[in-house]
This record gives sequence, structure tokens and C-alpha cells, in this order.
Amino acid sequence: MLKRLKWQPNQKGRSFRRLGSDGMDVVDDSWRVRLPSLLWIPVFIFGALLYFVDIFEIEFLSLQPTIESIKDFTYDSNKGFAINTPGCRIPEMDPFDPAVQPFILPPTRVKCNKGVPALFEANLTSIYILKSSLPAYNVSDFSDLHCCYSVIRRVEPKKKLPDNFFSNNEKCSYINGSTIIINDEFIKVQCFVDNTTIYTDTFSFVPIKNTTKSKVIYRKPLNVLVVGLDAVSRLNLHRQMPITVKYLQKLGAVEMLGYNKVGDNTFPNLIPVLTGLFEEELNKTCWPTQSSYFDNCTFIWHHFKSKGFMTVYGEDASWMGLFNYMRRGFKKQTTDYAYNYFNRYSENLIGNEHKMNVDQCEGARLVYKDLLEYIKKFVVRMNNSSLPFFGFFWGASLSHDYLNQPRLGDPDYQKFFQELEEGGHLNNTALVFMSDHGIRWGDIRQTYQGRMEERLPFVFVRLPKWYTNQFYKAYSNLKRNTRRLTTPFDLHETLYDLLDPYNLTGEYLKTTNKSRGISFFREITKYRTCEDAAIASHWCACQQSKELDTNSSEVFEVASFAVEFINMELQGYAQCANLTLMEILNARLMSHSGSDIEGVSNIKDYMITIKTVPGEAIFEVTVRYSEDERKYSVIGSISRLNLYGKQSACITDFHLKLYCYCKSLLS
Ligand SMILES: *[C@@H]1O[C@H](CO)[C@@H](O)[C@H](O)[C@H]1NC(C)=O
Ligand SMILES: *[C@@H]1O[C@H](CO)[C@@H](O)[C@H](O)[C@H]1NC(C)=O
Ligand SMILES: *[C@@H]1O[C@H](CO)[C@@H](O)[C@H](O)[C@H]1NC(C)=O
Ligand SMILES: *[C@@H]1O[C@H](CO)[C@@H](O)[C@H](O)[C@H]1NC(C)=O
Ligand SMILES: *[C@@H]1O[C@H](CO)[C@@H](O)[C@H](O)[C@H]1NC(C)=O
Ligand SMILES: *[C@@H]1O[C@H](CO)[C@@H](O)[C@H](O)[C@H]1NC(C)=O
Ligand SMILES: *[C@@H]1O[C@H](CO)[C@@H](O)[C@H](O)[C@H]1NC(C)=O
Ligand SMILES: *[C@@H]1O[C@H](CO)[C@@H](O)[C@H](O)[C@H]1NC(C)=O
Ligand SMILES: *[C@@H]1O[C@H](CO)[C@@H](O)[C@H](O)[C@H]1NC(C)=O
Ligand SMILES: *[C@@H]1O[C@H](CO)[C@@H](O)[C@H](O)[C@H]1NC(C)=O
Ligand SMILES: *[C@@H]1O[C@H](CO)[C@@H](O)[C@H](O)[C@H]1NC(C)=O
Ligand SMILES: *[C@@H]1O[C@H](CO)[C@@H](O)[C@H](O)[C@H]1NC(C)=O
Repeated sequence: MLKRLKWQPNQKGRSFRRLGSDGMDVVDDSWRVRLPSLLWIPVFIFGALLYFVDIFEIEFLSLQPTIESIKDFTYDSNKGFAINTPGCRIPEMDPFDPAVQPFILPPTRVKCNKGVPALFEANLTSIYILKSSLPAYNVSDFSDLHCCYSVIRRVEPKKKLPDNFFSNNEKCSYINGSTIIINDEFIKVQCFVDNTTIYTDTFSFVPIKNTTKSKVIYRKPLNVLVVGLDAVSRLNLHRQMPITVKYLQKLGAVEMLGYNKVGDNTFPNLIPVLTGLFEEELNKTCWPTQSSYFDNCTFIWHHFKSKGFMTVYGEDASWMGLFNYMRRGFKKQTTDYAYNYFNRYSENLIGNEHKMNVDQCEGARLVYKDLLEYIKKFVVRMNNSSLPFFGFFWGASLSHDYLNQPRLGDPDYQKFFQELEEGGHLNNTALVFMSDHGIRWGDIRQTYQGRMEERLPFVFVRLPKWYTNQFYKAYSNLKRNTRRLTTPFDLHETLYDLLDPYNLTGEYLKTTNKSRGISFFREITKYRTCEDAAIASHWCACQQSKELDTNSSEVFEVASFAVEFINMELQGYAQCANLTLMEILNARLMSHSGSDIEGVSNIKDYMITIKTVPGEAIFEVTVRYSEDERKYSVIGSISRLNLYGKQSACITDFHLKLYCYCKSLLS
């Protein structure tokens, strides 16, 4: 029996995301059949046990987690599975497995501004001078010091220029005394001694805007607060931020153990959350070219906005922000508040401690902490004005580049959540704490576990207690779905459901829509496979796999095809060198486990890791062999496991940058 794929995300995508032309059976049982038959005995026993547990819903053996069982989750290696359903099996891995142990190192401490402290500090309403900092600026007589502040504003980009313009030409208002109330959103502070600038800093505030017409809201809605941390796998969160995890568990947050990414980097994994669309579909609907603005696209915050919510978007490291990295951003600001503009201005002006891709500090402050401070200010302000809000925040400066750096932020994130909770702000807020994917490069990525982790980012969802008591069905579905295969598309539907949290009664949740995403509050079937969930094979963490001999001619043929494929992609770009295969680092044969498909399998999926020259690029490619057609094809996109850096400076297409080695470097 052959099962047709329900959804072929990449079929009509860009040329390098081709799927096999047949789009048919994707199961390869051949290697499983070859297993020695004795090995099947424990498998059958285990399978039978699962069957009985499932059929008779034996409570005490139930695989469905409760908050308690998640809380008590221990990470003994080889103990079991994170996801174990007929449609998908994902092994439970140990964050401290010996295979990844060598890569777990202490984080590098950061010393902002070479240790020179800030001269001003801000709270919700004011800036005030820190007298204790005066000696560090060699100011002995306070009256010698002259300070002023001026307003920073975003300016709408002209013509088709990138969204990166600011004005700061209004007068600098004298700061008389040591504290002053600020009614503006973003300001720059400067201090002088003898007309010499000795201090420059920036501060952000949340003045109430009149951009949302207040509507009569009959029942107090739930605010929605999404706090993102870039490039952190579920296991890396447990590994690096145990204090934060423990605190979230204490609050009753549930953790989605089978949240599987659907694209390579941030953009193709967040666009589905924010729009419900694949990157390629965005291209077809509202964002026709890389040089278009995003204004014509509908993002999740627009739905909240039209319900009378205040909306906020905020990123740090925003030079490489979601809408800005090699893209144009927006013509008109997309949300009522947007911290990312402030961050951009601030990093340009006073960014320091630059490491790999990010400024870790703005002035004397850590960038990620400034984002957290802003979120707190925003939440307090909205509450105090009785405005419901939708907030989407994304932190990359802490975690984007290094596996171990998130550990630095652990106490700060824990404190952040605790302050929100203790301030009473989580009592009327649905909180999502999430990432987009695991770390995409570095040594850990060349291990099997590192590869799995890259595909499995963390997602925590936390709802107020009174809400989970009242809307029990939604909550119990959510809990069950922590052990199901889930995607960014599901998260989109979940956020959409939160538009009307009082609708989510048992009856209502039975209605199903036909979209590829399924809200976490509805029942996600245990039969769901990656194909059902629109996860391309290359990214699917459900598969079991078997290591192959890299010296075999079978593997060599696959690797040669992959190199040929990459060279084809580069055709027409004469500035890029032709690549040749240098080494095959790893090869695995994937099996699409959990399928109930019987019969002959005529397709083989290989996942190979290869090194090419010139440039010594390391690629991870999924190659499918169709025995019927005697043909290879590349499935999903190709991952680049080491950095291309300046190797690809001669090309602007950000997809091809992964492959291109500029010939100009050869001479
Ligand atoms: C902010 O700081 C100033 C100066 O220390 C203080 O007067 C004011 O009460 C503070 N405001 C808040 C909201 O904490
Ligand atoms: C303060 O004075 C010391 C000694 O003259 C000098 O090294 C230091 O750079 C000065 N600091 C600032 C912030 O100007
Ligand atoms: C600062 O404030 C003091 C007291 O309010 C006032 O006497 C003085 O003139 C002010 N200075 C300036 C430059 O505005
Ligand atoms: C500072 O600049 C102003 C105007 O440029 C000038 O009048 C004044 O003398 C200068 N003060 C010092 C101490 O240099
Ligand atoms: C909102 O406030 C801005 C600036 O404070 C003002 O220019 C604008 O007219 C106000 N709009 C409405 C609808 O009140
Ligand atoms: C959208 O798709 C077209 C055709 O496939 C392509 O030429 C264009 O570059 C794509 N735009 C973006 C932004 O990817
Ligand atoms: C939105 O779409 C319309 C119609 O296609 C187009 O004229 C306009 O330029 C687009 N807006 C932006 C900001 O790209
Ligand atoms: C909340 O707003 C009221 C006035 O609307 C103000 O008096 C109070 O100080 C505010 N509280 C905070 C914490 O900002
Ligand atoms: C939130 O607002 C409500 C109503 O204005 C107020 O009673 C409550 O104290 C506020 N909570 C916080 C933490 O400011
Ligand atoms: C939380 O909100 C609910 C519903 O609005 C309310 O009944 C309850 O008293 C609140 N609890 C706290 C601790 O503020
Ligand atoms: C919630 O229920 C109301 C009333 O039945 C309905 O008008 C609204 O469309 C529902 N919201 C959603 C998101 O389905
Ligand atoms: C690229 O190199 C391969 C051998 O590695 C060769 O077969 C192929 O013809 C070359 N292509 C071009 C366009 O030079």
C-alpha cells in the first residue's frame, strides 16, 4: 500500500528545494527488514506493551504526560523517547551525553565598555544620574558636568531604501539636576565637561500611544507575550539554562517535546509562526522580491491589532533582524511599538564587545538584558493603562553564535520571568518562551545528537492557572500535545486561537480546519508524520537512521551527486568556483519510522555530510534515490555546517552564499 503525501512543501519552491518528482511513497523499510530476526523480539514485546497501554488506556502506564511527569523528567540517556507515537519517534537524548560533552564549555564572560560604568540609568519613567560613576569619568566637581537628551525617531525609508533611517536632530534638552522625567519613546543622552563629550548613551521608554482605538471589550482578554531566544535547541536550553527551566516548570509551563523546525535558519522558521505560510508562499503572496517591503503581508499581530490590542515587536542584534538581514524591512512600522529600531540606533552608536555576529553590549549594558528590561517596562505600562497587548520579542545577541553563551543569561531570564510573575503580570497573559532552531554550526553540529538538536528547538507555553482550570479541555489537549510532533505552523494556529481565549471550550475545539497547522489547544493525532505536518524530510527528526560506511561506492555515488547538484545551483554565477568533493565525513540511511506502510520500498533517503574544495565547506545534504527511476534528487534545503564568512562576498543571493566560493580568492 502506498500512501500519498498530504503536503509537499517544497515541490514548487525554489529550484534547490526540489523534492523527488514522484512525491509518492517515502518509506524505506529495506534496511529494517535486513535486521537479524532475533533483534525483533524486544521490539515486539515493547510494541505489544505500547499497544495494550494505548488500547486500554492504562492510566498508570500512560505515555501521556502530566505536568508532574514533565517536571520529574530526568535525562538518563537511552531511557526512552521524547516522542513515541505511531507517526513519529524521537529519541530522548541526554543534554550531557558523552558524544557532546567535549563541546560543553564555560561561557565567555563579557566586560561591557571596558569596565567603564554608565553615568545614567533609567526606570519606567525617568533617567537619573549614577553619582557613583562620576570618578570613572574623572568628574570631581558635579557642577562641571553638563548633560542633555534628544529624541530619536524612526524615519520612514524613502523610495526603496532599507528600513534603517532615524532622526536625531531635535534640540538637546538640558538635564537640570540629577533626575528627569522622560515622556518620549527613545532618547540619546550626552554629557560634556568643558565642551568635550565624555558620555553618550541611549534609553528606551514606553509612552502610551494613541494608535489603538479603545474598543469595548466585554471580557478581559489574555495578553500574549512571545519571548524568543535565537538558535537554542530544547536540549541546549536544559543544558545552559537550568535555573530558568526549573522556574518555568514551577510556574506550570508545558514544554513541547516534539517541536520540529521546518526550514534552515530564523526566517523560514519564524515566518510560519507569524503568518502560517512558508517562506516560498510569502514570496508568492505579499513579498514578491527580496527588495520588496513586508507591508503587504498579514502578520499575527495584525489580527490582534484589529481586536483592539496594542502590538509590539522587538529584537536585539537587529542589524540581522528577521525583516532586515539582506531584506528591506517595512515602509510603515508594522506594530504600535517597535524596540528593534531603538536597538539598531543604539548598537550603531554605542555598540561594543563585538563578537562573531553581534554586539554584546550597548554602552555599559548587556544588549540582551536591555531587551528584557524593555519587555518588563512594556508589560507594566500596558497593564497600568488597562491595554491588552500582543508582544513578539526576539533575542539573538546572547545565543545566536555560541552554544555555551546562553548560560550567561540563565539567572537574568529566570529573574525576568519571576519579576513578571511576582508583579502579577502573568495572571492575565499567555506566555510563549521559544526558539527557532538549535545551533547551526560548530563542532557539535557534526555529531548525530547535534544534528537532531538543530532540528528541535525549545518551546514552553504557560497559561494562567485560573484559565487552565476553566478551559480544561484546551489545557489537557495542550499537555497531550507536548508528546506529539508539532511545528511552527501549529504555533501560529495556537496564537490565533488566543485571539478569543474564551471560545476554547470542548465543543469548539472539536471543529477542525483544514490548514496544515493544528493549534496546540486542539487534538493533534498520534498518527501525524512529518509529511502530514509539512516538515521536509531533511528537517524531520522523527526518522531512525543507520550509519553507512563512508568508503562504500554507494555513498560515494550519493556524495558525487550532491556536489554536482550544488555546482548546478551555482551555474550562471561565473564568480563562484566549481566545487569538488574532498571528503565524506558521515553518511546515514534514513528510515521513515512510525509509518504503517507495508510492501516494497523503492526510495532511499541518505543524509550525508561532505567537505568540498576550494573553501573546505562542510555541507549536510539529504539525497533521495528512487529505484524506479534510477535517479537521485536533493530533498529540502542543504545545510552549511561551517561558516562561509568572506568566501562568498562576491554574491548577494543569500541562499547561494552557502555554496559560493569566490574565484577571486583563488589567485
Ligand atoms: C524612577 O527613578 C526616579 C529617580 O530615582 C524616582 O524618583 C522615581 O520614583 C522612579 N520611578 C519609578 C516608576 O520607579
Ligand atoms: C580619567 O583619567 C585617567 C588618568 O588621567 C585616564 O587614564 C582615563 O582615560 C580617564 N577616563 C576617562 C573616562 O576620561
Ligand atoms: C536648574 O534648576 C534650578 C532650580 O530649579 C534653577 O535655579 C536653575 O536656573 C536651572 N538651571 C538651568 C540651566 O535651567
Ligand atoms: C564651550 O562652547 C561655547 C560655544 O561654542 C563657548 O562659548 C564656550 O566658551 C566654550 N566653553 C569652554 C569651557 O570651552
Ligand atoms: C495621536 O498622537 C499624535 C502625536 O501625539 C497626534 O499627532 C495625532 O493626531 C494623534 N492621533 C489621534 C487619532 O488622536
Ligand atoms: C520569489 O520567487 C521568484 C521566482 O521563484 C524569485 O525570482 C524571487 O527572487 C523570489 N523572491 C524572494 C524574495 O525570494
Ligand atoms: C503592496 O501591494 C500593492 C499592490 O500590489 C503595491 O502597489 C504596493 O507597492 C505594495 N506595497 C508595498 C509597501 O510594497
Ligand atoms: C499607573 O497609572 C496611574 C495613573 O493612570 C499612576 O498614578 C500610577 O503611578 C501608575 N503606576 C505605575 C506603576 O506606573
Ligand atoms: C494591573 O492593572 C490593574 C488594573 O488597573 C491593577 O489593579 C493592578 O494592580 C495592575 N498590576 C500591576 C502589576 O501593575
Ligand atoms: C488572576 O485573574 C483572575 C481572573 O481575572 C482573578 O480572578 C484572580 O483573582 C487573579 N489572581 C491574582 C493573584 O491576581
Ligand atoms: C469566537 O466566538 C465568537 C462568537 O461565537 C465568534 O464571533 C468569533 O469569530 C470566534 N473567534 C474565532 C477566532 O473563531
Ligand atoms: C566541475 O568539476 C567537476 C569535477 O569535479 C567536473 O566534472 C565538471 O566538469 C566541472 N564543471 C565545470 C563547469 O567546470
